Amino acid sequence: MLKQTLLKATQAGAKVLQQYFNGTFEVSSKDTINNLVTQADKEAESAIIDVIRETFPDHFILSEEVGELRMDSNMKWVIDPLDGTVNFAHGIPICCVSIAVERDEEVIMGAVYNPFMNEFFMAELEQGATLNDKEIHVSTKEDLASACLVTGFPYNWREMRNDPVKVFKRFVENGNPVRRLGSAALDLCWVACGRFDAFWEHHLQPWDSAAGALIVQEAGGVVTDFDGYPYSIYQKPILATNGLLHGDMLQVINNG
Ligand code: IPD
Ligand code: CA
Ligand code: CA
Ligand code: CA
Repeated sequence: MLKQTLLKATQAGAKVLQQYFNGTFEVSSKDTINNLVTQADKEAESAIIDVIRETFPDHFILSEEVGELRMDSNMKWVIDPLDGTVNFAHGIPICCVSIAVERDEEVIMGAVYNPFMNEFFMAELEQGATLNDKEIHVSTKEDLASACLVTGFPYNWREMRNDPVKVFKRFVENGNPVRRLGSAALDLCWVACGRFDAFWEHHLQPWDSAAGALIVQEAGGVVTDFDGYPYSIYQKPILATNGLLHGDMLQVINNG
């Protein structure tokens, strides 16, 4: 029932995104001018929550736009109704719905769906990860010098531990191709399926990473903070790699 609801909720959110994409919709700014929220974010979120509430009215919900809908439950849904809002608002089809389910504070299921590429990523704890129902694995790249990397930058530059631009510069100076998709959930999924060898970002929220981090781990990758400790979705910095490059990535991030 959990998995069915997860799939149904993800599809419901994606349907809203498809309805609005490249059409007209309300857009407003949050704390900074480019931190956008659209009508599609909000309506996708309502559609997702309606599906979850229908089957699990007593589960806790944490979702980007509405925040916490607290319930006394060991089950929590962590929702990003539209990851890649800036892309969406500019008609760039690199955006997705991302939903994860936590049981006793452990992520046990995650789904990330980009309806514009028809790519549905999914993972269950200890069950592996899939893209459109086919098993996926991280890359086998061992050499950082030829690794293809992806990162993201925060909207708001306050409270950064180490300067994201300096870290970015070090990788660029090393000659690495570094991409910036604009959707952390897809960055993670694209590491999981081997398109990228590693992803790092300084300041993510739980809804950005909850599903994608599980998908990377279940595809054989490693996800930590910038000190190399196991990743929790409630901490901000994230490093996700194919495992083989993890040590080298940490070294560049921290020391250059
Ligand atoms: C953002 C995207 C972006 C990342 C930002 C996130 P949103 O999420 O994941 O790639 O760099 O830190 O906030 O606002 O599009 O849901
Ligand atoms: Ca946002
Ligand atoms: Ca997000
Ligand atoms: Ca979002």
